[in-house]
Amino acid sequence: MSRSTPLCVEVSLGERSYPIHIASGLIAEAGMLMRPHLASARVLVVADQIVHARHGATLRAALDKAGIASEFAVFPAGELSKSLETADHLWRACAQHRIDRSDAIIAFGGGVTGDLAGFVSACWMRGITLVQIPTTLLAMVDSSVGGKTGVNSLAGKNLIGAFKQPACVIIDPALLATMDGREFRAGLAEVLKYGVIRDPGFFAWQEAHASSLSSGEPGMIAQAVAESCRIKAWYVGEDETEQGVRAHLNYGHTFGHALERETGYRIYLHGEAVGIGMRMAAALSRSLGLLADDALALRQDALLRRYLLPLVHQVDDPAAAAVRLAGHCRLDKKVSAGQLRFILPTALGTVEHRVVDAPQAVTAAFASGLVRTPPPTS
Ligand code: GLY
Repeated sequence: MSRSTPLCVEVSLGERSYPIHIASGLIAEAGMLMRPHLASARVLVVADQIVHARHGATLRAALDKAGIASEFAVFPAGELSKSLETADHLWRACAQHRIDRSDAIIAFGGGVTGDLAGFVSACWMRGITLVQIPTTLLAMVDSSVGGKTGVNSLAGKNLIGAFKQPACVIIDPALLATMDGREFRAGLAEVLKYGVIRDPGFFAWQEAHASSLSSGEPGMIAQAVAESCRIKAWYVGEDETEQGVRAHLNYGHTFGHALERETGYRIYLHGEAVGIGMRMAAALSRSLGLLADDALALRQDALLRRYLLPLVHQVDDPAAAAVRLAGHCRLDKKVSAGQLRFILPTALGTVEHRVVDAPQAVTAAFASGLVRTPPPTS
């Protein structure tokens, strides 16, 4: 496996600051990179069955090379595993392997694994060291950085959790070569998001390299991951617990969550729903007069298209669906005191957190991302 020059991004949180190491082939150095952050030379690696089968032996060899003893706790792949039941299975693995306060948990996988293992590490013995080694694009550019961890429950998605910052994040973009193409492109929606909310130059860079990014060209992907992590690290350093500006990272998410809920979490991957949600957010900005023209929406659409992401949701009755979707918004955890709040672009690279007291504009924004299902051809 080829190696590239490592890139390093720092998340600045005072004594809890941590590095994000990014380079193709870096998994082979994972033990050496995490060793300075560990109080003991013993770790519990948490991975789903697929990641364990594909990459478990490589990680174990890298840990052995650094003199780190590893145990693996494996669980079934999929969102259903992001539960208290699986967390309990992992806590029992901690007990079985006598993981104590000086040991560490390694979250090795995608977003479900990072959230779940992070939560397990936040609670075990009231908190032990966590290292994140993400294996999906979404986890590399978003969920492995910033300390949001948790599980789903009957109370709702992501409502039970803790902030638990990792001691370091180790990102090997070469691991993406084995990733499902659709899931990979869904991660690109979050990469696009960073350009819209914070960095017009990064957006323009993505436009210039969209074909290489969409086809997963490793050097380009490593740069996109590093730039995304740099932007995410800035938000986390400014506002660790999302009292203010960190909410900008939720651009497109209120609309996207409503769409995921409406479709029973079965049709869209999270990034795909966020892509459609970003279009709806731009439409709302335009109708509220926060955007002077359609330029941003058109560029955003063009990049979503080049990333082969869906732009609209097909439904039998768009008008009725728009009303239902607006209703789902009121149940989103980003709604406080009954007010609808959205992250809305005011220019490329700038967004605002706005209370929107215009129900018809919200419904119309949803409608802008819906099309009628064509009749079947006989
Ligand atoms: N995924 C958004 C955040 O970490 O704040």
